Amino acid sequence: MWIPIGRTLLDEETIGRRLDELAEEISRDYADSGEVVLVGVLRGAFVFLADLCRRLELPVMIDFVAVSSYEAGEKREEGEEILLDVRTPIEGRHVIVVEDIVDSGRTVEAVRRVLAEKGPRSLAVCTLLCKPEALEVDVSPDYVGFDIPDEWVVGYGLDYDHQHRALPRVAVVEPPE
Ligand code: IMP
Ligand code: MG
Repeated sequence: MWIPIGRTLLDEETIGRRLDELAEEISRDYADSGEVVLVGVLRGAFVFLADLCRRLELPVMIDFVAVSSYEAGEKREEGEEILLDVRTPIEGRHVIVVEDIVDSGRTVEAVRRVLAEKGPRSLAVCTLLCKPEALEVDVSPDYVGFDIPDEWVVGYGLDYDHQHRALPRVAVVEPPE
């Protein structure tokens, strides 16, 4: 069943404007750092990463990780597992994890832990969305596009049960009971 989309939280223009700001901030912060490795967290971050990396005025390398995760509507669980690791050597390099959304914070924490073991020169987290009310672990992303309420959102890479990732804006869905 194709889940109906509810109200729009962030339209394309709003997202684009915020990305301009984020890219400017990151470009400034890493201006003297040499190349930066952007590590996108699959699959939700693919749209954000694509739009962000083209705005950065920095030499960047792109890689991805995938983490096992809970299904839409399921309870957040412990024990996230890395399913796909980076292939770019990140030792001694500046790394920015690019996430679609920080909800409980467990995914980002797991990714951070795995990447930190490889000895990067620095390790930062950039997330398009953050649900501050849902945070269960002590993570504070270095770059946040938007804080949003604790509701299930889709679009701009984010899904509900694999649906609506290609929607160009971010909208709320009401998961069926
Ligand atoms: P966390 O580990 O609880 O922080 O969850 C982060 C992951 O859960 C994200 O990378 C998303 O894949 C997924 N997620 C959490 N909230 C949402 C949402 O509102 N819409 C779509 N995916 C979400
Ligand atoms: Mg994700």
